[in-house]
Amino acid sequence: MNGRQGWFDVWQAKGKRALAEGRSPGLRDLVALSGYDSPTSALDLNQYDRQLRHIVDSLAIGPDDHVYEVGCGAGALLWSLQNLCAGVGGSDYAPALVEIAAMVLDTDDLAVLEAREVPVEPRYDVVVSNGVFVYFPDAEYAWDVTERMAAKARRAVGIFDVNDLATREEHRAVRGAAYGHNAVRTEIGQLYLDRAGFVELAGRLGMTCVIEDSVMTGSANARFRYNVLMFHTGGRPR
Ligand SMILES: C[S@@+](CC[C@H](N)C(=O)[O-])C[C@H]1O[C@@H](n2cnc3c(N)ncnc32)[C@H](O)[C@@H]1O
Repeated sequence: MNGRQGWFDVWQAKGKRALAEGRSPGLRDLVALSGYDSPTSALDLNQYDRQLRHIVDSLAIGPDDHVYEVGCGAGALLWSLQNLCAGVGGSDYAPALVEIAAMVLDTDDLAVLEAREVPVEPRYDVVVSNGVFVYFPDAEYAWDVTERMAAKARRAVGIFDVNDLATREEHRAVRGAAYGHNAVRTEIGQLYLDRAGFVELAGRLGMTCVIEDSVMTGSANARFRYNVLMFHTGGRPR
């Protein structure tokens, strides 16, 4: 199965099942729709809250900021962020998930889009992507999206939960053991990226770059993932 189409089908099917249930989603449902109920990333809401706090603090998101998310899914992260900032916008390639996001988010800027097609305008103070880069087809796609996010951001970019190329084989073994017979998911595969690639790209774009280990310690995936923070001149929190 083609990796890109395979993951698209997984996410779109999740959204369709939720829409068929026909009830209005709460945060727990939104978090499950983001995949944080799988064998390798089962999280309780406290863990998700820790991730939210980390995103807000590391990017110094404040009440005057407008925040955009690439790959926003059903809107779990933006739903929490919209109460902490001036406004949110987002996009995702799965139409069923965007339909749910439209029910729970207070924004006019929601669209069904491939991450690589996200328009640079309108620009936002902060542009984030949480748990999305692992589903991209290849590194070239990931660098293109990063560059686009940097152009869309006035101040800062945050890319959270990237698979670390340095620990790929160990992570694959953990995932294989966790999924066992569920061949489809392991077959589709995930993308692993070199930390140095982000540092080099940020340098080329004239941005500063900080890379940190994942804070989602309740997830089996966390040990193998990192977060990327990139700041335009003057955009770095003190
Ligand atoms: C783990 S979920 C995270 C959802 C959301 N970012 C959050 O934190 O709640 C991954 C999301 O990435 C989206 N996605 C994966 N590949 C994508 C792509 N190439 N373009 C746009 N969205 C993509 C999926 O549809 C899914 O909603």
